[in-house]
Amino acid sequence: MISFSSKTQLCAVIGNPVGHSLSPAIHNAAFGALDLDFIYVAFPVEDVKSALEGMRALENFRGLSVTIPHKTEVMKYVDEISDVDRSIGSINTVIHENGKLIGLGTDGTGALKALVDNGVEVDGKNVLMLGAGGASRAISFTLARKTRLAELAILDVNEALLQGLKTDLVAGTDAVIKTGAMTGLAAAMECADIIVNCTPVGMHPKVDASLIPPELFRPGQVVFDIVYTPLETKLLADAKSRGLKVIPGVEMFLNQAVLQFERFTGLAAPVEVMRRVVMERLTS
Ligand SMILES: NC(=O)c1ccc[n+]([C@@H]2O[C@H](COP(=O)([O-])OP(=O)(O)OC[C@H]3O[C@@H](n4cnc5c(N)ncnc54)[C@H](OP(=O)(O)O)[C@@H]3O)[C@@H](O)[C@H]2O)c1
Repeated sequence: MISFSSKTQLCAVIGNPVGHSLSPAIHNAAFGALDLDFIYVAFPVEDVKSALEGMRALENFRGLSVTIPHKTEVMKYVDEISDVDRSIGSINTVIHENGKLIGLGTDGTGALKALVDNGVEVDGKNVLMLGAGGASRAISFTLARKTRLAELAILDVNEALLQGLKTDLVAGTDAVIKTGAMTGLAAAMECADIIVNCTPVGMHPKVDASLIPPELFRPGQVVFDIVYTPLETKLLADAKSRGLKVIPGVEMFLNQAVLQFERFTGLAAPVEVMRRVVMERLTS
Protein backbone atom coordinates (compact mmCIF):
# COMPACT_ATOMS: atom_id res chain seq x y z
CA MET A 1 0.00 0.00 0.00
CA ILE A 2 1.51 3.37 -1.01
CA SER A 3 1.30 6.06 1.69
CA PHE A 4 1.56 9.80 0.98
CA SER A 5 2.84 12.63 3.17
CA SER A 6 4.14 16.20 2.88
CA LYS A 7 7.48 14.58 1.98
CA THR A 8 6.14 12.32 -0.79
CA GLN A 9 8.60 12.17 -3.68
CA LEU A 10 7.05 12.66 -7.11
CA CYS A 11 8.19 10.79 -10.22
CA ALA A 12 6.54 11.02 -13.62
CA VAL A 13 6.74 10.12 -17.28
CA ILE A 14 6.51 12.94 -19.83
CA GLY A 15 5.84 12.40 -23.52
CA ASN A 16 3.15 12.88 -26.09
CA PRO A 17 1.09 10.76 -25.95
CA VAL A 18 1.65 9.01 -22.59
CA GLY A 19 -1.77 7.39 -22.12
CA HIS A 20 -0.40 4.00 -23.21
CA SER A 21 2.63 4.12 -20.88
CA LEU A 22 3.18 1.12 -18.59
CA SER A 23 5.58 3.14 -16.42
CA PRO A 24 3.07 4.36 -13.77
CA ALA A 25 1.85 0.80 -13.10
CA ILE A 26 5.41 -0.61 -12.96
CA HIS A 27 6.93 2.07 -10.71
CA ASN A 28 3.94 2.44 -8.36
CA ALA A 29 3.89 -1.34 -7.83
CA ALA A 30 7.62 -1.20 -7.02
CA PHE A 31 7.19 1.77 -4.62
CA GLY A 32 4.31 -0.09 -2.95
CA ALA A 33 6.31 -3.32 -2.63
CA LEU A 34 9.04 -1.47 -0.70
CA ASP A 35 6.53 0.71 1.19
CA LEU A 36 8.18 3.91 -0.09
CA ASP A 37 6.74 7.43 0.19
CA PHE A 38 6.90 7.90 -3.60
CA ILE A 39 4.26 8.31 -6.29
CA TYR A 40 4.56 8.06 -10.09
CA VAL A 41 2.19 9.77 -12.54
CA ALA A 42 1.96 10.39 -16.31
CA PHE A 43 2.01 13.92 -17.75
CA PRO A 44 1.25 14.52 -21.44
CA VAL A 45 3.69 17.34 -22.29
CA GLU A 46 4.23 19.49 -25.38
CA ASP A 47 6.43 22.21 -23.89
CA VAL A 48 9.47 20.33 -22.56
CA LYS A 49 11.33 23.46 -21.45
CA SER A 50 8.48 24.56 -19.15
CA ALA A 51 8.03 21.02 -17.84
CA LEU A 52 11.70 20.90 -16.81
CA GLU A 53 11.45 24.38 -15.23
CA GLY A 54 8.49 23.08 -13.22
CA MET A 55 10.47 20.06 -12.12
CA ARG A 56 13.39 22.25 -11.05
CA ALA A 57 11.08 24.50 -9.01
CA LEU A 58 9.40 21.62 -7.15
CA GLU A 59 11.82 20.26 -4.57
CA ASN A 60 9.99 16.95 -4.08
CA PHE A 61 9.89 16.28 -7.83
CA ARG A 62 12.52 13.55 -7.76
CA GLY A 63 12.58 11.82 -11.12
CA LEU A 64 11.36 11.85 -14.66
CA SER A 65 11.06 9.21 -17.35
CA VAL A 66 11.13 10.79 -20.79
CA THR A 67 9.54 9.17 -23.80
CA ILE A 68 8.75 9.93 -27.45
CA PRO A 69 9.02 12.64 -28.83
CA HIS A 70 11.10 14.41 -26.13
CA LYS A 71 14.14 12.15 -25.61
CA THR A 72 16.53 14.43 -27.51
CA GLU A 73 15.09 17.89 -26.78
CA VAL A 74 15.07 17.30 -23.01
CA MET A 75 18.89 17.16 -23.07
CA LYS A 76 18.94 20.97 -23.55
CA TYR A 77 17.30 21.61 -20.19
CA VAL A 78 19.33 19.45 -17.78
CA ASP A 79 22.53 20.48 -15.95
CA GLU A 80 24.62 17.33 -16.35
CA ILE A 81 24.82 14.51 -18.88
CA SER A 82 27.55 11.87 -19.19
CA ASP A 83 29.76 11.83 -22.30
CA VAL A 84 28.29 8.55 -23.45
CA ASP A 85 24.71 9.80 -23.19
CA ARG A 86 25.71 12.95 -25.07
CA SER A 87 27.18 10.78 -27.83
CA ILE A 88 24.04 8.64 -27.95
CA GLY A 89 22.04 11.83 -28.49
CA SER A 90 19.03 11.00 -26.32
CA ILE A 91 18.15 10.35 -22.67
CA ASN A 92 15.13 8.74 -21.02
CA THR A 93 15.64 9.75 -17.37
CA VAL A 94 16.09 12.97 -15.37
CA ILE A 95 17.01 12.92 -11.67
CA HIS A 96 16.57 15.98 -9.43
CA GLU A 97 19.54 15.87 -7.06
CA ASN A 98 20.85 18.63 -4.79
CA GLY A 99 19.14 21.31 -6.87
CA LYS A 100 20.54 19.95 -10.15
CA LEU A 101 18.84 18.11 -13.00
CA ILE A 102 20.92 15.12 -14.09
CA GLY A 103 20.07 13.49 -17.42
CA LEU A 104 20.87 9.90 -18.26
CA GLY A 105 19.82 7.03 -20.49
CA THR A 106 18.84 3.54 -19.32
CA ASP A 107 17.95 1.97 -22.71
CA GLY A 108 21.52 0.95 -23.57
CA THR A 109 22.38 -0.13 -20.04
CA GLY A 110 19.01 -1.92 -19.77
CA ALA A 111 19.83 -3.88 -22.94
CA LEU A 112 23.31 -4.78 -21.64
CA LYS A 113 21.81 -5.88 -18.29
CA ALA A 114 19.31 -8.05 -20.20
CA LEU A 115 22.23 -9.81 -21.93
CA VAL A 116 24.31 -10.20 -18.77
CA ASP A 117 21.37 -11.36 -16.60
CA ASN A 118 20.60 -14.00 -19.22
CA GLY A 119 24.13 -15.35 -19.03
CA VAL A 120 25.41 -13.88 -22.31
CA GLU A 121 29.11 -13.01 -22.33
CA VAL A 122 29.73 -10.08 -24.73
CA ASP A 123 33.51 -9.76 -24.28
CA GLY A 124 35.41 -11.21 -27.23
CA LYS A 125 32.23 -11.70 -29.28
CA ASN A 126 31.17 -10.42 -32.70
CA VAL A 127 27.92 -8.48 -32.35
CA LEU A 128 25.63 -7.87 -35.32
CA MET A 129 23.02 -5.14 -34.90
CA LEU A 130 20.17 -4.59 -37.35
CA GLY A 131 18.98 -0.97 -37.35
CA ALA A 132 20.80 2.31 -36.74
CA GLY A 133 17.99 4.37 -35.16
CA GLY A 134 17.54 5.70 -31.63
CA ALA A 135 17.58 2.38 -29.75
CA SER A 136 20.50 1.11 -31.82
CA ARG A 137 22.52 4.22 -30.94
CA ALA A 138 21.94 3.65 -27.21
CA ILE A 139 22.78 -0.07 -27.36
CA SER A 140 25.76 0.21 -29.73
CA PHE A 141 27.44 2.98 -27.67
CA THR A 142 26.83 1.06 -24.45
CA LEU A 143 28.23 -2.21 -25.81
CA ALA A 144 31.17 -0.43 -27.44
CA ARG A 145 32.01 1.53 -24.26
CA LYS A 146 31.16 -0.94 -21.50
CA THR A 147 32.20 -4.30 -22.94
CA ARG A 148 35.23 -5.64 -24.77
CA LEU A 149 33.35 -7.01 -27.76
CA ALA A 150 35.52 -8.15 -30.68
CA GLU A 151 33.63 -6.42 -33.48
CA LEU A 152 30.38 -4.50 -33.86
CA ALA A 153 28.67 -4.77 -37.26
CA ILE A 154 25.59 -2.64 -37.97
CA LEU A 155 23.30 -2.99 -40.99
CA ASP A 156 20.39 -0.74 -41.93
CA VAL A 157 18.37 0.38 -44.94
CA ASN A 158 18.85 4.02 -43.98
CA GLU A 159 22.29 4.99 -45.30
CA ALA A 160 22.31 8.46 -43.70
CA LEU A 161 21.51 7.15 -40.19
CA LEU A 162 24.03 4.35 -40.59
CA GLN A 163 26.85 6.66 -41.63
CA GLY A 164 26.04 9.11 -38.84
CA LEU A 165 26.16 6.33 -36.25
CA LYS A 166 29.40 4.91 -37.66
CA THR A 167 31.09 8.31 -37.58
CA ASP A 168 29.99 8.88 -33.96
CA LEU A 169 31.01 5.38 -32.80
CA VAL A 170 34.44 5.66 -34.41
CA ALA A 171 34.94 9.09 -32.82
CA GLY A 172 33.54 8.14 -29.41
CA THR A 173 34.69 4.55 -28.80
CA ASP A 174 37.66 2.22 -29.42
CA ALA A 175 35.50 -0.57 -30.82
CA VAL A 176 36.03 -2.14 -34.25
CA ILE A 177 32.98 -0.95 -36.21
CA LYS A 178 31.69 -2.25 -39.54
CA THR A 179 28.55 -0.93 -41.22
CA GLY A 180 26.72 -1.92 -44.37
CA ALA A 181 23.50 -2.31 -46.28
CA MET A 182 21.02 -5.12 -45.59
CA THR A 183 22.33 -6.87 -48.72
CA GLY A 184 25.33 -7.85 -46.59
CA LEU A 185 23.15 -9.79 -44.11
CA ALA A 186 24.16 -13.34 -45.18
CA ALA A 187 27.88 -12.54 -44.92
CA ALA A 188 27.41 -10.75 -41.61
CA MET A 189 25.48 -13.73 -40.17
CA GLU A 190 28.48 -15.99 -40.98
CA CYS A 191 30.63 -14.34 -38.32
CA ALA A 192 28.04 -13.02 -35.82
CA ASP A 193 27.93 -14.48 -32.30
CA ILE A 194 25.22 -12.18 -30.92
CA ILE A 195 22.49 -10.69 -33.12
CA VAL A 196 20.40 -7.74 -31.91
CA ASN A 197 17.34 -6.61 -33.86
CA CYS A 198 16.93 -2.86 -33.30
CA THR A 199 14.48 -2.30 -36.18
CA PRO A 200 10.69 -2.29 -35.74
CA VAL A 201 10.41 -5.29 -38.11
CA GLY A 202 8.23 -7.98 -36.48
CA MET A 203 6.42 -5.52 -34.22
CA HIS A 204 2.64 -5.73 -33.82
CA PRO A 205 0.62 -5.66 -36.11
CA LYS A 206 3.14 -6.96 -38.71
CA VAL A 207 3.99 -9.99 -36.59
CA ASP A 208 4.76 -12.31 -39.55
CA ALA A 209 7.83 -10.29 -40.57
CA SER A 210 11.46 -11.06 -39.72
CA LEU A 211 14.67 -9.71 -41.24
CA ILE A 212 16.60 -12.98 -40.91
CA PRO A 213 15.74 -16.02 -43.06
CA PRO A 214 16.00 -19.03 -40.68
CA GLU A 215 18.55 -20.79 -42.90
CA LEU A 216 21.10 -18.06 -42.05
CA PHE A 217 21.22 -19.00 -38.34
CA ARG A 218 24.29 -20.89 -37.13
CA PRO A 219 24.59 -23.06 -34.01
CA GLY A 220 25.67 -21.20 -30.88
CA GLN A 221 24.35 -17.79 -31.91
CA VAL A 222 22.39 -15.68 -29.42
CA VAL A 223 19.42 -13.70 -30.79
CA PHE A 224 18.12 -10.64 -28.93
CA ASP A 225 15.06 -8.90 -30.41
CA ILE A 226 14.36 -5.56 -28.70
CA VAL A 227 10.81 -5.52 -30.12
CA TYR A 228 8.51 -6.52 -27.23
CA THR A 229 5.03 -6.55 -28.82
CA PRO A 230 4.53 -9.45 -29.39
CA LEU A 231 6.52 -10.97 -26.52
CA GLU A 232 7.83 -13.62 -28.92
CA THR A 233 8.52 -12.20 -32.35
CA LYS A 234 8.88 -14.30 -35.49
CA LEU A 235 12.64 -13.71 -35.34
CA LEU A 236 12.78 -15.20 -31.82
CA ALA A 237 10.46 -18.10 -32.70
CA ASP A 238 12.61 -18.95 -35.76
CA ALA A 239 15.84 -18.75 -33.75
CA LYS A 240 14.35 -20.86 -30.94
CA SER A 241 13.20 -23.53 -33.38
CA ARG A 242 16.85 -23.80 -34.53
CA GLY A 243 17.89 -24.38 -30.92
CA LEU A 244 19.43 -20.92 -30.38
CA LYS A 245 19.43 -18.95 -27.16
CA VAL A 246 16.95 -16.06 -27.43
CA ILE A 247 16.40 -12.92 -25.37
CA PRO A 248 13.04 -11.16 -25.73
CA GLY A 249 12.76 -7.36 -25.87
CA VAL A 250 10.68 -7.34 -22.70
CA GLU A 251 13.93 -8.03 -20.80
CA MET A 252 15.35 -4.71 -22.03
CA PHE A 253 12.08 -2.93 -21.33
CA LEU A 254 11.99 -4.30 -17.78
CA ASN A 255 15.63 -3.49 -17.11
CA GLN A 256 15.47 0.10 -18.33
CA ALA A 257 12.68 0.57 -15.74
CA VAL A 258 14.66 -1.28 -13.04
CA LEU A 259 17.66 1.02 -13.62
CA GLN A 260 15.39 4.10 -13.49
CA PHE A 261 13.81 2.91 -10.24
CA GLU A 262 17.25 2.45 -8.70
CA ARG A 263 18.21 6.02 -9.66
CA PHE A 264 14.90 7.43 -8.39
CA THR A 265 15.14 5.72 -4.99
CA GLY A 266 18.78 4.72 -4.43
CA LEU A 267 17.48 1.22 -3.57
CA ALA A 268 17.66 -2.19 -5.22
CA ALA A 269 14.53 -2.62 -7.33
CA PRO A 270 11.95 -5.32 -6.55
CA VAL A 271 12.56 -6.83 -9.98
CA GLU A 272 10.06 -9.70 -9.73
CA VAL A 273 7.24 -7.32 -8.75
CA MET A 274 8.10 -5.12 -11.73
CA ARG A 275 8.35 -8.15 -14.04
CA ARG A 276 4.91 -9.37 -12.93
CA VAL A 277 3.30 -5.99 -13.72
CA VAL A 278 4.99 -5.80 -17.14
CA MET A 279 3.92 -9.34 -18.06
CA GLU A 280 0.35 -8.79 -16.81
CA ARG A 281 0.04 -5.62 -18.90
CA LEU A 282 1.62 -7.08 -22.03
CA THR A 283 -0.44 -10.27 -21.99
CA SER A 284 -3.85 -8.73 -21.13
N1 LIG B 1 12.65 -3.23 -25.55
C1 LIG B 1 12.74 -1.93 -25.33
O1 LIG B 1 12.84 -1.47 -24.17
C2 LIG B 1 12.78 -0.98 -26.49
C3 LIG B 1 13.31 0.32 -26.34
C4 LIG B 1 13.35 1.17 -27.44
C5 LIG B 1 12.85 0.74 -28.66
N2 LIG B 1 12.32 -0.52 -28.77
C6 LIG B 1 11.80 -0.99 -30.08
O2 LIG B 1 12.87 -0.99 -30.98
C7 LIG B 1 12.41 -0.70 -32.31
C8 LIG B 1 13.27 0.41 -32.90
O3 LIG B 1 13.09 1.61 -32.14
P1 LIG B 1 13.88 2.96 -32.50
O4 LIG B 1 13.37 3.98 -31.57
O5 LIG B 1 15.34 2.74 -32.59
O6 LIG B 1 13.31 3.24 -33.98
P2 LIG B 1 13.96 4.16 -35.10
O7 LIG B 1 14.73 5.28 -34.48
O8 LIG B 1 12.85 4.45 -36.06
O9 LIG B 1 15.04 3.21 -35.82
C9 LIG B 1 14.69 2.04 -36.53
C10 LIG B 1 15.74 1.83 -37.60
O10 LIG B 1 15.44 0.60 -38.27
C11 LIG B 1 15.48 0.86 -39.69
N3 LIG B 1 14.64 -0.07 -40.41
C12 LIG B 1 13.28 -0.07 -40.53
N4 LIG B 1 12.89 -1.10 -41.30
C13 LIG B 1 14.02 -1.76 -41.69
C14 LIG B 1 14.27 -2.89 -42.49
N5 LIG B 1 13.26 -3.57 -43.11
N6 LIG B 1 15.55 -3.30 -42.66
C15 LIG B 1 16.54 -2.64 -42.07
N7 LIG B 1 16.39 -1.55 -41.30
C16 LIG B 1 15.13 -1.12 -41.11
C17 LIG B 1 14.97 2.27 -39.80
O11 LIG B 1 15.28 2.81 -41.06
P3 LIG B 1 14.34 4.01 -41.61
O12 LIG B 1 14.68 5.21 -40.80
O13 LIG B 1 14.71 4.14 -43.05
O14 LIG B 1 12.91 3.55 -41.40
C18 LIG B 1 15.74 2.94 -38.66
O15 LIG B 1 17.05 3.25 -39.02
C19 LIG B 1 10.93 -0.35 -32.15
O16 LIG B 1 10.16 -1.48 -32.49
C20 LIG B 1 10.77 -0.04 -30.68
O17 LIG B 1 9.47 -0.35 -30.19
C21 LIG B 1 12.28 -1.39 -27.72
